[in-house]
Amino acid sequence: MSQKKIDKQMKQIEDKRAKGRIFKKDSSFLKAEENVFDVPTLKLLYSFANKGIISELGGSISTGKEANVFYATGNEGEVAVKIYRINSSTFKAMDPYILKDPRFTHIRHSRKDIIFAWTQKEYQNLLRINKAGIRAPRPVTFDRNILVMEFMGENGIAYPSLKDVKMDDEDARLFYDQIIENMRRMYVRASLVHADLSEYNILIDIENEEAVIIDVGQAVTLNHPNAREFLTRDIENIKRFFKKYGIDEGTKEIAERIKQKKEEDTIIEPDPEEDAVDAGNNEKTNEKETKEE
Ligand SMILES: Nc1ncnc2c1ncn2[C@@H]1O[C@H](COP(=O)(O)OP(=O)(O)O)[C@@H](O)[C@H]1O
Ligand SMILES: [Mg+2]
Repeated sequence: MSQKKIDKQMKQIEDKRAKGRIFKKDSSFLKAEENVFDVPTLKLLYSFANKGIISELGGSISTGKEANVFYATGNEGEVAVKIYRINSSTFKAMDPYILKDPRFTHIRHSRKDIIFAWTQKEYQNLLRINKAGIRAPRPVTFDRNILVMEFMGENGIAYPSLKDVKMDDEDARLFYDQIIENMRRMYVRASLVHADLSEYNILIDIENEEAVIIDVGQAVTLNHPNAREFLTRDIENIKRFFKKYGIDEGTKEIAERIKQKKEEDTIIEPDPEEDAVDAGNNEKTNEKETKEE
């Protein structure tokens, strides 16, 4: 599409938007964020606004390698809006996580399709993780490259990452045990391995002394061929972080703890809700049953 055409479409959308007043910032903000707000993404945000899911889009919380996260408010209260950039240059890095996932073998391997499937996967993983009794954002909705989820924070201020929290050895022990228990619940109850767990993807709700697991787009099911390797890597990351607080448990011992089933565990069966999501919410991804290279 030519720049002129994009500008024209942007203007049309902005005119519509002016009526709905969903964005706090002016259009220069959108231009600066052009990578995120391509025309289809703006249209999608607008459709979320029409549904009331987003009534006001606030500031940027994070600009990552593949996605931007924004704060917003709407009929579900405070939400985080994670927008995967279609133009992301690192999307190739997603391949190993999604292409071998048995849940996603039917997707077409184009850039867009991988990103849409990735967004859907993060939504589904969040559902499963919440069901497993792990504190994580509750997913609100998704479509194409946008995921809307519960905002983990208060009054517009996100909880800090584990890496930024000042704590003594006793606090560290508490969070360490919580995190290992969360990994165990994820493994045993949800049949998932996070696959990118580190002090960056764990937030701390200081008031409730609770670890919050985020960024689960790459989490894989246990039947993924690399699940074991990803689990070991997660364990090593957690070990490395907590070493400075005098915690030094063996990798093997931790892995055993994570795989241990307890009496109170309920195993989450493959979810009819997930199938419903497959069939309904994201028709675009689902249409493409044929595999094309
Ligand atoms: N649900 C949420 N509530 C509050 N902050 C969030 C939420 N999700 C993400 N964030 C913030 O945005 C940052 C990036 O989000 P993340 O999901 O880790 O994306 P990335 O793939 O870019 O690492 C997080 O470190 C966190 O600070
Ligand atoms: Mg992250």
